[in-house]
Amino acid sequence: MKANTQKIKPTKQTKKSLQNIDSYTHLRGESIYVDDVNVRQGTLHAVVFDSNCAHGKIKSVDYSKALALDGVVRILTSDDVTGENQIGGIIPDEPLFAEGEVHFWGQPIGLIVAESISIAKKARKLIIAEFEELPVITTAKQAKEKGSFINAPRSFNLGNVNEAFANCEYVFEGETFSNGQEHLYIESQGAYVEPLENGNFRIVSSTQGPTQVQRIAARVLGIPMHKIEVDVTRLGGGFGGKEDQATPWAVMAALAAQILNQSVKLILDRHDDLRMTGKRHPYETTYKIGLSKDLKIQAFEIELLQNSGAAADLSPAIAERTLFHATNSYYVPNVKSTVYSCKTNLPPNTAFRGFGGPQGMFVIESAIARVASELGVLNTTIQEANLLKENDEFSYGQIAQKVEIRNSWNTAKEKFELEKVQNEVAVFNENSANIKKGVAVMPITFGISFTNTQMNHARALVHIYQDGSIGVSTAAVEMGQGVNTKLLQIAVDSFSIENHRVKIESTNTTRVANTSPSAASATADLNGKALLMACDSLLFRLKNIVAEEYKVDIKTVSLRDEWVYINDQKSTISWEHLIFKAMALRVALTENAHYATPVIHFDKTKEKGHPFAYHVYGTAIVTTTVDCLRGTYEFDSVKIIHDFGKSMNLGIDLGQIEGGLIQGIGWMTMEEISYAANGKLLSNALSTYKVPDVYSVPKEVEVIPLETPGNDMAVLKSKAVGEPPLMYGIGAYFAIQNAIRAFNPKYKMRFHAPMTPEKVLMGLYQK
Ligand code: MTE
Ligand code: HPA
Ligand code: MOS
Repeated sequence: MKANTQKIKPTKQTKKSLQNIDSYTHLRGESIYVDDVNVRQGTLHAVVFDSNCAHGKIKSVDYSKALALDGVVRILTSDDVTGENQIGGIIPDEPLFAEGEVHFWGQPIGLIVAESISIAKKARKLIIAEFEELPVITTAKQAKEKGSFINAPRSFNLGNVNEAFANCEYVFEGETFSNGQEHLYIESQGAYVEPLENGNFRIVSSTQGPTQVQRIAARVLGIPMHKIEVDVTRLGGGFGGKEDQATPWAVMAALAAQILNQSVKLILDRHDDLRMTGKRHPYETTYKIGLSKDLKIQAFEIELLQNSGAAADLSPAIAERTLFHATNSYYVPNVKSTVYSCKTNLPPNTAFRGFGGPQGMFVIESAIARVASELGVLNTTIQEANLLKENDEFSYGQIAQKVEIRNSWNTAKEKFELEKVQNEVAVFNENSANIKKGVAVMPITFGISFTNTQMNHARALVHIYQDGSIGVSTAAVEMGQGVNTKLLQIAVDSFSIENHRVKIESTNTTRVANTSPSAASATADLNGKALLMACDSLLFRLKNIVAEEYKVDIKTVSLRDEWVYINDQKSTISWEHLIFKAMALRVALTENAHYATPVIHFDKTKEKGHPFAYHVYGTAIVTTTVDCLRGTYEFDSVKIIHDFGKSMNLGIDLGQIEGGLIQGIGWMTMEEISYAANGKLLSNALSTYKVPDVYSVPKEVEVIPLETPGNDMAVLKSKAVGEPPLMYGIGAYFAIQNAIRAFNPKYKMRFHAPMTPEKVLMGLYQK
C-alpha cells in the first residue's frame, strides 16, 4: 500500500482549546510512568513464571535449578500467599497463582524475585513444570456445547418476538463472528511497591482502578486496606486493559515486598504482556431479524456467545453492555437478546473501549447488511428507516430522550452529500474493473454511565494553599484521554484564575478513597461534577468574606481574571489577597465533595430500568477503495457528525474521535488475534499482530460537531467522548463489504470480523 497523504481537516474551533497539560513533558520525554519512578536502593526485580499448558493438572514444578542461580532471591507460589490467593473482582474464581491446575496458557504459577530482571528471566528458563493435560476449549461455541459457563445467561426482552416474526414480511437468520482485540497500550502492565514502617505499603501502579488494586492487595496480603496506599500519576494507555488486569502484577509485587521486606518492581515485557493478559471478547452470534413491507425492523432475536476466557474478570458486566447496545441506534419494538458468558481456556478476556457494546452493534449492522443484500436495497435505506426517535423504548426499559441520532444522520447526509457520494461510487464501480469503491454509514448510540449503578460516583479534594495556588485530587486516572486537562479547566474556570495556579495531583487512594475505576467514558463527568461541587463550596466561602467585610449581598460578589468584583466594579482585592484574608479569618480552604449520578437505576431481576445518564450520538460515513487483484484496501475518507454536547475542550475531544476511530478500524479490518487449538497465543508479537499505523489511517478524516442544546447530566454539558468513536470503525467493515459486492455479484455475505486482506480476496473470488 502506498504512503498516503493524510489530511485531518481542522474542525473550526470558536475558542482555542486548552492544550493537553501533559504535552510539554510528553514531547520532551519527561513524563513519568511506572518504569521511570526512582526506586529505593536494593530494589528487587520480579518476573512471572507462567503456564505453557492451557488446561491441565500441575504434576510437578521443579524450581531447584532456578533457585540455585546466583542473584535469585526467592520464588513465590500460591503456598506463600499470606492472605487469600484470590483476585476475582466480580466473581471470586481467579487465583493469583495457579493452585493444582492451570486454566490458560500464560497463567501465572510463580513469581521469581531476583537482583535484576535478566537474572530473573534466566532463572525462569531453568524451571521445569510437568502437566497432565486436560481437554482445551478455545471457542465460545465449544464451551456452550460442553456447558462451560462463567455464570447464568442474561436475557433482555421487549414486546413479543414470536408474534412479531409471524407477522413479518421478511425474516432472515444468520451468524456473525467478531474477534478479540489486543489493547497494545504503549506502557505495558507493571507496578513498583515499597514496604513502609509497621507493615504498610505504597504501590505505584499503572492501573485504571487504584481502589481495585488496593482492595485486592489487602485481600491477598491479609491486611486492612488502610495499610495500602496506591498512587497513579498517569498511564501510557489503558483502553480498558487496566481496569481489572493491572491488579495481579501490583498484588504480586506487593506480596513479594511483604515477604521480603524489600521494594519490588514488576513490569511485564511486551511478550509476557501479550501472552498473559486478556483482550477484547470474541463473540459468536446467531440472529433472526424480521421486517415489515416498508422495511421497519419489527423483531430481532439474537443469541450471543461471549468468549470469556478462563475466569470471570469483567465478563458479566461486559456481556450486559452487549445487550444494552444490541439494537444500536434503531428502534425495534420486539427484541429478545440472550448472552452466554462462555468459559474457555484462554486468558480471561476483559474491558476494551466500548465494553461489549461494539460487539453488540456489529451484529445488528450485519443483520441489516444481510437484509439489504437479500432485498437488493442499500444498507442505508434500512438503517435510515429504523433510527430511534424521541420517547422510543430501549429493550431495557429506558425511554430515549434528547435523541440526536436522526439529527446527526440527516446532518451527515446533507453536509457530506451522502447521496452524491453513493452515486459517484456506483459510477466509479461501473467504470473500473479491478479497483472498486465502497461506502457505508455507521450511526452510533452509546449509553453513558457504568451499567452497574452503584459504581457511578466520585469525589474531589481541593486545597487552596495560602499563596493562592491550588491542588486538586480526584479519582480520575489520566491515561492519555486528557481528563486532567479537563479537570484543570474546571478548577481554573470556577475561580477565574490562571492555569499555572492549579496542579492536578496524582490519583491516590489516601486522598480520594473508594473510587470506581476510570472507565465507562464517565471519568470527566463523575470527577468533574465532584470537582465543580468542591470549587463551588470554596467559592461561596471566599465570596462570603467579601460580602461580610463590605456589607454587600453575596450575589454582587464575583471573581474575574484573578480579581474580586463587587457589583461589576473591580475592587482592590486580588485573588492572592483574598486567600490571605481567608487565612487571617481562619476560613477553611479545603473542600471534599461527593457526586453520585442522579436518576439512574436498573433492576436486574426484571432487566429493566434507566441505567444511563444519557446517550451519545453520531454518524460516520466511511469510504474505501479496494484493490480487487490483491485484496488490499485503503480508506479514502471518514466523515463524522458527532454529538459532543457543548464540548469543553474540542482539541482533546477531537483527539479522542480520531484515536477511537482508528482503533475501531483496526479491530474490524486488520487486528487478528489467533490461538492454536492447544490454547497457545499465535499472534504473540507485533510481527504477527498487525495494528493500524500511519499508513492505514484514512486519507481524510473530517469531524463536525453536531449543534445541540447539550445535556445537563454531562459535566458543563460536555458529553463523554472516550469510547463512542471506536464504533464508527464498524463502518469500515461494511464499506469494504460493499466494495466486494460491487466486484463479485456471487459474493455470499459473511460476517466474520476482522475483514483482513485475505478474507477480502476470498470474498472477491468466491464462486
Ligand atoms: N484515550 C487514550 N489516549 N488512552 C486510553 O487508554 N481509554 C479509552 C478512552 N480513551 C483511553 C482513551 C477508554 S476504554 C475509556 S473508558 C475512556 O477513555 C476513559 O476515560 P474517560 O472516562 O475520561 O473518557
Ligand atoms: N463500563 C466500563 N467499565 C465498567 C462498566 C461499564 O459499564 N461496568 C463495570 N465496569
Ligand atoms: Mo473503558 S473499556 O470503560 O476502560
